[in-house]
This record gives sequence, C-alpha cells and structure tokens, in this order.
Amino acid sequence: MMVHPWLLGVIGLLFLGAQGQSDNLGLSNGYISIATANFNAKIVTDAQVLASLTPAGNTFDFLPFDKISVRANNGQYHWGDVTFQYREQGNSNWIDGNSATTRKPVTVVTTNALAASNLTPTLGTGPLNITREWLDVSGDLGLRFTIVNSGTSTIELGSLGFPAEFNSIFTNRAATDIQRLCSLSDPYIGMHAGYIRANPISGTGTALAVTPLNGTDTPFEGYHNLAEQSFSSTYYGSQTFEGFYEWQVLTKAWAEKEWASVTPWNPPSSRTLAPGQSMQFGFRFSIAKAGVRDLDATVSGTGTPVAVGVPGYIIPRGSPAQLFLQASSSVSSISSEPSGALVVKEVSTNSYTITPSSTAWGRVRLTIKYVDGKTQTVHYHVTKASTDVLSNLGTFLTTKQWFNDTSDPFGRAYSVVTYDYEVGAIVTQDPRVWIAGLSDEGGTGAYLAAMIKQAIQPNADEVAKLEMFVDKVLWGTIQTSDYAVRKSVFYYDKSALPNYPYQSRFDWGSWTSWNKASAYAVDRAYDYVHVAAAYWSMYRVARAYPQLVKSHTWDWYLGQAYSTIIRATKSDVGYNRVGLMGETVFGEILTDLTREGETSQASTLSTAMKSRATQWNSEAVPYGSEMAWDSTGQEGVYYWTKYFGYTGTMTKTVNSVLGYMPTVPHWGWNGNARRYWDNIYGGKLQRIERQIHHYGSGLNALVLLSAFRSDPSDWYLLQVGYGGTSGPLSNINQDGFAAASFHSWPDTLKWDGYSGDYGPGFLGMVLGSGTYIAQHETLGLLAYGGTLISSSDASSVSVTTQGPVRRKVFIGPLGVLLTTDAGSIDGFNYTSDGSRISVTLAQLPSGPSAVSAVLWVETTSGFTKYAVSSSTTTQSRQGWEIPLSSSAVIVQLKRT
Ligand SMILES: *[C@@H]1O[C@H](CO)[C@@H](O)[C@H](O)[C@H]1NC(C)=O
Ligand SMILES: *[C@@H]1O[C@H](CO)[C@@H](O)[C@H](O)[C@H]1NC(C)=O
Ligand SMILES: *[C@@H]1O[C@H](CO)[C@@H](O)[C@H](O)[C@H]1NC(C)=O
Ligand SMILES: *[C@@H]1O[C@H](CO)[C@@H](O)[C@H](O)[C@H]1NC(C)=O
Repeated sequence: MMVHPWLLGVIGLLFLGAQGQSDNLGLSNGYISIATANFNAKIVTDAQVLASLTPAGNTFDFLPFDKISVRANNGQYHWGDVTFQYREQGNSNWIDGNSATTRKPVTVVTTNALAASNLTPTLGTGPLNITREWLDVSGDLGLRFTIVNSGTSTIELGSLGFPAEFNSIFTNRAATDIQRLCSLSDPYIGMHAGYIRANPISGTGTALAVTPLNGTDTPFEGYHNLAEQSFSSTYYGSQTFEGFYEWQVLTKAWAEKEWASVTPWNPPSSRTLAPGQSMQFGFRFSIAKAGVRDLDATVSGTGTPVAVGVPGYIIPRGSPAQLFLQASSSVSSISSEPSGALVVKEVSTNSYTITPSSTAWGRVRLTIKYVDGKTQTVHYHVTKASTDVLSNLGTFLTTKQWFNDTSDPFGRAYSVVTYDYEVGAIVTQDPRVWIAGLSDEGGTGAYLAAMIKQAIQPNADEVAKLEMFVDKVLWGTIQTSDYAVRKSVFYYDKSALPNYPYQSRFDWGSWTSWNKASAYAVDRAYDYVHVAAAYWSMYRVARAYPQLVKSHTWDWYLGQAYSTIIRATKSDVGYNRVGLMGETVFGEILTDLTREGETSQASTLSTAMKSRATQWNSEAVPYGSEMAWDSTGQEGVYYWTKYFGYTGTMTKTVNSVLGYMPTVPHWGWNGNARRYWDNIYGGKLQRIERQIHHYGSGLNALVLLSAFRSDPSDWYLLQVGYGGTSGPLSNINQDGFAAASFHSWPDTLKWDGYSGDYGPGFLGMVLGSGTYIAQHETLGLLAYGGTLISSSDASSVSVTTQGPVRRKVFIGPLGVLLTTDAGSIDGFNYTSDGSRISVTLAQLPSGPSAVSAVLWVETTSGFTKYAVSSSTTTQSRQGWEIPLSSSAVIVQLKRT
C-alpha cells in the first residue's frame, strides 16, 4: 500500500471521532464456542451474537473477530441482531425495536439448541417477545428467531431486518493482511430463493452461503444499509470500510416513509400477529467447499431454489434469453412485472425462453411461484436493441453533451463533456474540477465513450465532430506537445482568471478545486489511458473507413496512441507502475503496431510493459492504486502477466476478480465488480455505497472473458464475465444518456444524474464483449450475445449474433476466436466435430460502408488451428482481408 492522498482527503473530510471502545457487548465475560460438523463459531456470552465464524478444518474467519473489541459498542451490528417496526392495530405510527441500540445481557433459555436466549432485556418492554437460537442444522450453523405477540392487541410487523456482518474492514490493514483476512459479500434479493454469498477476498478457498432456514418463512425482500457511528478505529462508511447491510424480510414500514419515492426490488410487505401468535424466521450458514463456483450447488443443497440466466439479466430487446431453474418443488406460475414486459415460454422442465417485448424498457421483475409455496424473484433490466442503444449513446454524446462555446477560457470547445441529466445541461463547473475539466475518469468519461463507440459503430457526423475535438482540445489542451496529459483543463484560479464567473453555490475551498498549476500537472498515469484509447479508436476508424476521417491518416492516430503510452511511463508520471483502468487498450495498441509492422515501436512498448509485469510478478498483492483496496489494478496486471507468461500471478489475478464479482439472478449484482466510493469523485450524489455497474463491471469483465477464452471449460468465468460486460449497456437510458452508476441504497434505487466516469466501463464492453459459445456440463450448449440453433442430431450449430459488439466471436467448444475491424459479424455456423466453420460478414446495418474487413482467427492453446480457406483472400495485418460488398459474404474456415 502506498500513501493515498485522495483517501486521506475523504477521511479528513468525512470522519472524525473517537476510537470507540466501550464494551456494551460484554466481551469481558467471554465467548461460548459452538461447533457443528461444518463450522467452528463463537458467540458472545452476554449478548449471544455471533463473533467468529470459521469453516471446520480451516482458520479463515468470515467475521471481523480480530476487530471485535472496537465493534462492541451499542449501535454496532452483528449476526444475531434484529431490527423491526411494529404497530398495534388501529395505530398509524410505527414503533422501533433494535437489539443493538442499548445492549443488556440477554436471558439464557434452555432449549435443545446450541445456545438460546430471550432478547427482552436488550429490547426493553413491548408486546413482541423474541427468542433467538443458534442451531445445528445437518452440520451447518442455523440461526432462528421466534417472535411471539405477548400483548393483548393484534400487531402489524411492518419491518423486520437481520443485520449481516463480514470482515470487509480494510482500515489500518496492510494489503497482504486484507488479502489474508478479509471477505466480501453480496446479496441476492430474491425472496425465498434469496441468499447472501460471501467469500475470502482472494477469491480462493471456501465460500459461504446464508439461505433462509428451512421450516421458517424468511424471504429476502430488501437489503438495507445500516447506519453506524464512524469511529476512527475502523471508519465505518468510508473508502476503507463500506459498512454493513441487513437482510430484510418485511419492508412495508420503510416503503411508506423513507422509500416513498422509490420502487423497491420486491413488493413491500408486513405480517400480522394476533395476541399469543408466534412466527419464526431464520438463516442457515453453509459452506461451498470448492469455493465460489460451488455456491449454486450449496444453495440448492439447502432446499433453496436456484436460477441461472443466460446471457444474464440485462437483456436487449430482440434477444431472447434463457432461464434455468433448479428447485425441489415444481413451478406453479411465472409472471412478469410490468405485465407482458417479458414473455416466458417453457422449453422443457425448468428451462425457459425469456423474450422482452418490443416496448419493454428498464427494470422488469419475474416472479416464480413454486407448488410448495415459495416465491422467487429474478430481476431483469431490458434495454433497447443493443445496436440502437449504441447509436442513441453516440447521438446524445455528440449533441446534448457537445460543448461548443468557443469563448471558453479553458479551451474546452469543441468537446464531449460531462452532463447532468437531472438538470438537462452540460456540467461546465464542479468543485471537483476534473469533472468539468475533461480529465480523470470523472471528466473523460463522456469523450472516451464517444470516441470508443466509433471503433465498433462509426458514424460520419460523430466522427467529424470528434476530429474537431482531437485537433482543438485533445491535442494541445488536454495533452501538451510532448504527449503529457493534464489532470484537468478546468480549474479554480482567481488569479489566473479573475473574471471567470465561478458559481458561488459551490464550495471552492476543497482540495478538489485545483488551481491552474495543479490542474495542469501531468503526473497521473490513469489519465493517459483515456487519451491513448481515444486515438486508438480513431486509428481503427481511419483504417477501416478512411473516407470518414479527414484531418489525419490512420498512422498518425496510431502513432499518437503509442507516444501517449510511452510518455506515461516517464518518471514524472505517478501510478505508472500499477495496473490502470482500461489499459487492455495498451495491449490492443501493441497488437496493432505489430500487425502494422511497426516493429521498433512495438518492441519499445513491449519492453516498457514487461518491466511492469515483472515487478507485479514479484509482489504478493500487485493491485495497488490510489485507494487502500481497489478493483482497478487487476485488469492491467492480468493482461500483462498473461502476455509475458507469468501464469502464477495471472491465475491469482483471475481469482482476485472472482473475489469481488458475484453472479446472482439480479441484473444489478450479476457481474457487478465491487466499487463503493467513486460517487465521491465522479458522481452527482456523493456517498459511500455499493455501486451498481460502475466502470468496474465492464473493465473486470475483460479479465474473466479473456480467462474463459483460455479455458473454455470454465463456464463460471463466462457467466460472471458476460454479466460484467453487459453492465455498461444498462447505464444508457432511452434518450441515449449514460449515467456513471446506479445507486443501490433502497431509499434511492436510481441512476446517478451525472455521466461522470461512465466511459471506462464502456471501453471494457467494446474491448471484451462479443458472442460467446460455451458447453455447460448440465445446461448444454449456451450462447451469450447471440441466438443458437443446434441441428437435431447436434452435429451442427448455427448462431445469429445479437450483442452490442458484433466484431468478436468465441466458439468455446472449438477454442476459436474470430475478430474483425469493420462491418459486422452477423452470424456463424460450425460443425460440432470442428470440421467446418463459416462466418457471415456484412456491412453495418445503417452505417458507412467498408471496402473490406480484416478477419483475425486465433485459437486457444491445445485446440486445432484454423485459416480462411479461399485462394483469392489475401493476408493482411496478420489476418485475412475479406472484400465486403453491399450483400453479406460467407467466409469458410478450414483446419490447418
Ligand atoms: C417471553 O418469552 C420467554 C421465553 O419463552 C418467557 O419466559 C417470558 O415469560 C416471556 N415474557 C413475556 C412478557 O411474555
Ligand atoms: C425441509 O423441511 C421439510 C419439512 O420439514 C423436509 O421434508 C425437507 O427435507 C427439508 N429440506 C432440507 C433441505 O432440509
Ligand atoms: C452550440 O450547441 C448548442 C446546443 O447543442 C446549439 O443550440 C447551438 O446552436 C450551438 N452553437 C453553435 C455556434 O454551434
Ligand atoms: C448457417 O446455417 C443457416 C441454416 O442452415 C443458413 O441459413 C446460413 O446461411 C448459414 N450461415 C453461414 C455463415 O454459413
């Protein structure tokens, strides 16, 4: 770990406070150790909450037992706590109950549980009498609450939450200790099929599933962030400690007040208890011995229904998806909300085709009812047809987000800049100067997305505008003549610009409001990636569609891209020895230099990257960044350690990504790489929370999709990776505006108002997405980003592409990767024995025409190699140049 000036800024800004070491939990009276076949656990003797949870035969603790002394205050939550709101019939006001607020030793109760207590001492008086038991459930750990209405009136229970605690506290830990000790968790807010998954942050070792306890009615209705005081001992709710959430079984009371303006994930409910009536709720902790890939089987083993969606849960119109269910009871009904938004067709038992209607858009909930009374919800996000989403984005960025004020003293005309969708205007000022200053992720997002979009879907008008941007702003203002990249072109500097109308509603006194000298500093390596990516996109456009690009030739753009990377490696640039967001594009640039025969530049670039990879290969945790813990370095570390054959570090990095990227049947969390502080730097609503589809999704997907291409037998990599690469599609709304991320706190559930740092995730999608075919051991042959038809004897397969990126195809069973630089791969066919592969190449449906496309054919190590089988096709740039005409061409491949 290095010193993180940004982090210190956050902490200095937001958190003050004492260490917080009162022993309200009663730690001085010790622990009760409990053991089951699968766990060793400790509960606190006085409070009977869970303090430690370790899989049997393992020393890894899923709970922050080593921090318990600073988590023993009133108001700090643990497993075993309960929060609720109730009202007596006839009253409208909800009354709160909370086992953590004023702790008192609970009353031990004798049952046949491992430990049991009555919570009345810590809850105080009231009609609800709650008993809590720790149980042995077939060798797993169980936690059960019995709630009795001991009063004389009927009670409505309007909220019921069970806090969940994991060791996600990074504060004051060295990077190696974080890697060794910490774990990450994510929810599946899916009613009776809902669960919490947790795993060591390394992504290796035993994973944990917390499911509804059999015999209780414990749906996962909501997931609510818990407020705790932020003591300096751990900084709850900071960059080093995101904070905890509770599993909510009932949410009606919240939905009435705090969430009144929000549509929750599931319909809010309450329950009624007559005098003397009781109800039970509970959880089962189970281990997935083989790790994250084993979680679905573990969940299924508890009798909890499991759903797997292909290609995930972000579904473009016109692309039918598949849904596979696995449950101990049969399905009695499936319905879509809004009604008709998804059309469900049963293909065979527990296998369904899910087709979005032609008008559906946005969040859609599928509710599956089982004969045994369980309800499961699967959460989808429907987008417009994927190519329409891209063209809407391009139009919005180059019109609504087009900055054309040539009198701007910062020289931002002409450019694509940050936009505030809630206000309907360009963001010309922000005290985080980079957001209005065309640099840092928060300010480059808009132009990066606009440029990189051209690489897959060029548009003549957009390209013409972006050429103006390159010549007037990128080259000369954002970038100096020696290829250095400034941290911001907007700044707060009254001495440099005494008459500029800085808006008085902003606080310009913060560390983020750089003066001209600080803004013009060129020492942040991250900023160089965006510029290199922008040039590379224009290189690709100029190469394939030379008629669109007027002011420079393709080789100028490729040279600019190269020189920008080399400039980033100089000693006056910081962070250039850590993995950089989006630097997979450095790999694309190296590949293109090689293909173009630029051997000297390719060799210089390769040497520079090798020096970084060699360093990473020597480091225990090579994922440093500006933050204490991060999910940004892995992409670059993976790319270059793989490239240079450092397989140990490469594999460790894939695991690291799997550690913070879950798969669950919910569009918001499926493939959603953990990010939780960047709203502070790139969003409009600034707060620490689990972000949904911030740029980590699209970027970390690059790692998993590449790892899948190297090992097409590992389906899990594709399931998570394709979820991640679909993330950036969901950010784009019906107008074409792309938001930085979606706010997951249940009182918000909306896209951020700013475009902010949207661009890097879109870059990840453009570089990684495509059509992927995988053979799954029980689900059969699956298509991601396409529709697949197998012949009846399964000897041949025909695929139509449907994803946003139709320039990349990977046939997993044959280990063959096909990519092209122009037009569109509309479909492909292959025989299962691999004897024949054919590909349909066409012009873009409503775009400029290319004279030819280059098709590259690569093969995963260990598989048979292929070549284009046409005597008239010429080799070009290490691929095959295929002439394109107005009608589609079919290219045949042959084994070599
Ligand atoms: C609450 O439940 C406990 C244990 O079942 C019982 O001993 C106690 O009397 C109950 N308290 C009230 C007020 O009903
Ligand atoms: C759940 O409980 C039911 C009824 O008690 C029982 O038949 C079933 O086997 C249990 N399932 C599991 C997975 O424990
Ligand atoms: C600048 O852009 C705005 C908004 O798109 C547009 O209304 C205006 O005509 C443009 N001005 C010039 C000089 O192009
Ligand atoms: C693939 O097969 C389908 C159905 O047999 C056919 O219509 C299509 O032209 C074929 N495409 C290619 C690329 O061979």
